[in-house]
Amino acid sequence: MQLLSNFLKHKKIDSELIELIDTLMLACKEIALQLREGELAGVLGVSDNTNIQGETQKKLDIIANEVLKKVLLDNPIVRGVASEEEDFPVFGNSDGRFLVTFDPLDGSSNIDINVSVGTIFSILEVPAGVHENSVDLFLQPGVQQLAAGYVLYGPSAVLSLTTGDGVNMFTLAHTGDFLLTHEDVTIPADTSEFAINMSNQRFWEPGMRNYIDDLLAGSEGSRGRNFNMRWVASMVAEVHRILTRGGIFTYPWDSREPQKPGKLRLMYEGNPMSMLIEQAGGKSSTCYSRIMEIQPDAIHQRVSVALGSRNEVDTLLEYHQANK
Ligand code: AHG
Ligand code: MN
Ligand code: MN
Ligand code: MN
Repeated sequence: MQLLSNFLKHKKIDSELIELIDTLMLACKEIALQLREGELAGVLGVSDNTNIQGETQKKLDIIANEVLKKVLLDNPIVRGVASEEEDFPVFGNSDGRFLVTFDPLDGSSNIDINVSVGTIFSILEVPAGVHENSVDLFLQPGVQQLAAGYVLYGPSAVLSLTTGDGVNMFTLAHTGDFLLTHEDVTIPADTSEFAINMSNQRFWEPGMRNYIDDLLAGSEGSRGRNFNMRWVASMVAEVHRILTRGGIFTYPWDSREPQKPGKLRLMYEGNPMSMLIEQAGGKSSTCYSRIMEIQPDAIHQRVSVALGSRNEVDTLLEYHQANK
């Protein structure tokens, strides 16, 4: 079994990028340990704080955020980080080369019921010659990402990583090493499995309602075949399933907060997951356009997401075009 850093060296990945990925994994291993302890370490449950998203922070949201911030900003190659759990970016070495955005604990509504959660990360480079620290450094479209990935803390802890040359998965061994377990992951172009929070059905736009209605109609409907549904409420778990066996995941715009494009955040959920999905041969869209081409204008901006098996995402887009 090949070690993560040796695999990246064989791929001739930039040595400082390898160092940054190793630094990220140091933090994720600490988070994995805290999660394994759970109630025994008194880290479950909610804190007294509300984050900028308006969510009550879980204790582990805060713990994971602090671990990632400290470990990353300790490394002089990191210029700054932006997190779901931080109102504003936090800056480190002013000569640092890399920017990291992260969702320290994705799916944290599941933490108290012991269901899989994850850490999502996206790596950008500081634009050449920019010396002042500002949020603008981070506001780069997803196509500028150098690397992206997540660590899914499930029955096993698995890193899914892309550096722009395909997707590979590494499983955390009891030795503390991430070992290569799935090479050059590819997503089947077609699927019979969809993931959406059905309780929001009455709030969707017509294109989404008609698309989902036809999936539910199964073999008696216009799609002529039956579909299965999954909803974990951890985006990391949904994306991991799709990378592993195909599928489509969508969290679309809905009329509950009509001024927002959706619930998920572009910079540390939409973009990193889109890079993984596209690098594995899938498609990732807002339901109208490619997510990775969005020019961000705020670090916590939302995005509507439909991603997964390429042909199924295309079908969903056709429903939206027909119902515009
Ligand atoms: P986070 O826990 O980082 O705030 O993200 C939760 C997100 C995403 O992981 C998941 O797909 C979605 O919220 C679930 O939303 P619902 O609870 O509305 O189903
Ligand atoms: Mn959250
Ligand atoms: Mn999340
Ligand atoms: Mn989160």
